[in-house]
Amino acid sequence: MTSPHAGTARAHLFNDRTVEGYRRAMAEGSARVADRIRRADRPFSGVSPERLAPEIAAIDLERPLHDHAAALDELERVYLRDAVYFHHPRYLAHLNCPVVIPALLGEAVLSAVNSSLDTWDQSAGGTLIERRLIEWTAGRIGFGPAADGVFTSGGTQSNLHALLLAREEARTEASPARLRVITSEAGHFSVRKAANLLGLGPDAVVTVETDDERRMRPAALARELDRRHRAGQVVMAVVATAGTTDFGSIDPLPEIAALCEAAGVWLHVDAAYGCGLLVSRRRRHLLDGVERADSVTVDFHKSFFQPVSSSAVLVRDGAALRHAAHHADYLNPRRMAERGIPNQVDKSLQTTRRFDALKLWLTLRVMGPDAVGELFDEVVDRAAEAYDLVAADPRFEVVTRSPLSTLVFRYLPPDGPRHGGLGRKLADDANLYAREALAASGEAVVAGTTVDGRHYLKFTLLNPETTLDDVAHVLDLLAGHAQRYVDDLAPLAGSPEVTHVCS
Ligand SMILES: Cc1ncc(COP(=O)(O)O)c(C=O)c1O
Repeated sequence: MTSPHAGTARAHLFNDRTVEGYRRAMAEGSARVADRIRRADRPFSGVSPERLAPEIAAIDLERPLHDHAAALDELERVYLRDAVYFHHPRYLAHLNCPVVIPALLGEAVLSAVNSSLDTWDQSAGGTLIERRLIEWTAGRIGFGPAADGVFTSGGTQSNLHALLLAREEARTEASPARLRVITSEAGHFSVRKAANLLGLGPDAVVTVETDDERRMRPAALARELDRRHRAGQVVMAVVATAGTTDFGSIDPLPEIAALCEAAGVWLHVDAAYGCGLLVSRRRRHLLDGVERADSVTVDFHKSFFQPVSSSAVLVRDGAALRHAAHHADYLNPRRMAERGIPNQVDKSLQTTRRFDALKLWLTLRVMGPDAVGELFDEVVDRAAEAYDLVAADPRFEVVTRSPLSTLVFRYLPPDGPRHGGLGRKLADDANLYAREALAASGEAVVAGTTVDGRHYLKFTLLNPETTLDDVAHVLDLLAGHAQRYVDDLAPLAGSPEVTHVCS
């Protein structure tokens, strides 16, 4: 028996008979977003999960609205009104960039055509476009013609993929419990996660100390390599970071590469954040040495102004990618590879995979790499100006000057007569409070982190539209909230309100 909804259901399928409906739906959707973006005077509404959750829970998913306009009206309420808008110049929190319009066009095209980049027979030109972009990125890194790689869902997956290849390349008889990965204490947590997923032991990731500018100390790495070797352990990879998440610091790549070459250890460079330098005309030299890596992570969705997701893992010797290959009769039998059919699934950890590369393709074809690099250079310039501003401001203490675009700092409550000598805990609590109070106001969104056990605030500047006035304004707001905590709330410490904001 045919369902009574069969006719209407088919009207929602995207095909030659429904293109008018597609055009209308896309136009309606983009008009709503455009309207929101035009009207947004702050990056966030400040909504709390407690307020939003009941609205979403109350929606009856068994009762469809049958109408795009009605669904979009509802979406205003449950999502668009309260979303966090990265395009706003006072969004200064995490490594999320505003996105460029050619990439949004790419996003619309790729989801409508819906290619899957696992096999040639599900993508055709998409596969070749991705390959060209991998070749282009490898060229920017300085890899030779043997290089290869694949797009991934993000830096976490790229790092996992690289470490999987490193483990296989170590070709060791050593039990997984003896394998070690060395990174700096400022390396990204996804390195630990990857080690865990790869079945290495709980002590597998060894961190070495950083210098005052939060860069891995090569001497400490040399000592660690030696120590591990003498302990009969196998260092399967060193992970250097080109753009640490908190400080934007770039590990000294040439020195680290030399140590890895001498020790015969796989060098992975996590350039998830710093990859924007690949297209910078003024700062490309900061990545010198990256071409000596065995593998590199690049996150286009961090510093190439691309929508999530867009990342890639690249290897200097493409042959290493074979370690992730699996040939399934139904999908990519070995004979296809022998016939030269370009199936990207042979290189990827994923099977069905989005054509994210299209966003970068249209970005390069419309804007060109120099224009992307200019945008990135601008945010790096702005971060340098912001550093000078904060360093000269007696209300704040700043940790280090970033070569990229972060700023880690904190409010230092002045010793006032009402409080006597103010302790470190008060400074911690005041900064935690200031961050949350600012987010709740929606006027700006900033991040936080800890440095040597103390709570700090963090700006990640990725929007060229953010002015120094925006930065100064946000600093004033933060100082106001922090001081309010010191004056009015700290004396009540332990009360439910204060406990809530500082938990
Ligand atoms: C240095 C670094 N590596 C890796 C990652 C993980 O990237 P993703 O969030 O795209 O998985 C991040 C994320 O912030 C990062 O900063």
